[in-house]
Amino acid sequence: MQVLGIESSCDESGVALFDTERGLLAHALFSQIPIHQAYGGVVPELASRDHVRRLPGLIRQVLGEAGVQRPDAVAVTAGPGLIGALLVGATLGRTLAYGWGVPIIGVHHLEGHLLAPMLEPDPPPFPFIALLVSGGHTMLIRVDGIGRYTLLGESLDDAAGEAFDKTAKLLQLGYPGGPAISARAEQGDPAAVSLPRPMLDRPGLDFSFSGLKTAVLHQVRQWTAPGTPQQVADLAASFQEAVVETLFVKCQRALRDSGLQRLVVAGGVGANRRLRERLKQLPAEVYYPRPEFCTDNGAMIALAGALRLQAGEHASPDFCVRARWPLEQLGVPA
Ligand code: KG4
Ligand code: ZN
Repeated sequence: MQVLGIESSCDESGVALFDTERGLLAHALFSQIPIHQAYGGVVPELASRDHVRRLPGLIRQVLGEAGVQRPDAVAVTAGPGLIGALLVGATLGRTLAYGWGVPIIGVHHLEGHLLAPMLEPDPPPFPFIALLVSGGHTMLIRVDGIGRYTLLGESLDDAAGEAFDKTAKLLQLGYPGGPAISARAEQGDPAAVSLPRPMLDRPGLDFSFSGLKTAVLHQVRQWTAPGTPQQVADLAASFQEAVVETLFVKCQRALRDSGLQRLVVAGGVGANRRLRERLKQLPAEVYYPRPEFCTDNGAMIALAGALRLQAGEHASPDFCVRARWPLEQLGVPA
């Protein structure tokens, strides 16, 4: 079965063609980051308009590269995300599926992220613990199969990626903050500034990152003049270290409590080099998608849709797009 995947939940237009026999046949991505950079964050209306502009060309490109004229099904991101942006992908997907006379399935964006490591040559077998760290979510989830997700812990305030983005803004490092902070941190000393390790002293697997951002703000306010490049690098490195250490300890706890020895790391923050280095110290096998599939992409949506259809999920063009959609509401394919 060949499934065309379309992702448009935020600021990335992603398209891919996944074949359940042969794997990923083609994929293409257009990142809107330069469009939103001037505003320091994603502008929803600009995002929707650019998805309208980019997606048709990306779909033509992917079908052409894969040598496929009419896939067997279409999968589109149905949520969570920016509602206007989601509507663009869903409308385009429905139109194509109708024209081709093929089924269409609405995919949960986070399920796409969770399953993305399965696009790699050595995919993780179920069950595993997943650390989902993106711009909108920080979650630890026990994954026992497609749609069998148990939420173990999540952020009570800012997501890890959001903390990177807000801290980068404070340090005037630009948007998106994750790559900017991690690049600056390379020149900094992670032990230079003592920052809190939020919620590590409490039991449980929840996270909190907003206090960390405030601690960075206090540091910046203590500077009498704009920070020197070294001060900024040291603070970036110390901030990154605090986030990485918090994620490391919670993953360690989740693995210990569950007795599992497999960890999947997904979502944009999973591209962070220091995080990857630190997680090597876990007594577990750690799986990642390739860096380009850590952030939003069409391949993970095509894959999640294909796995659900293959498992017998009933596809209907009547699915709703949803700005909010708790992952725990997803069930097994039906
Ligand atoms: O998964 P994603 O592309 O979009 C969402 O679904 O949110 O994640 C984007 C987030 C942004 O907050 C970005 O700053 C962060 O991932 N990010 C990183 C890195 N690359 C992207 N954070 C830390 N280190 C990175 N290298
Ligand atoms: Zn995402």
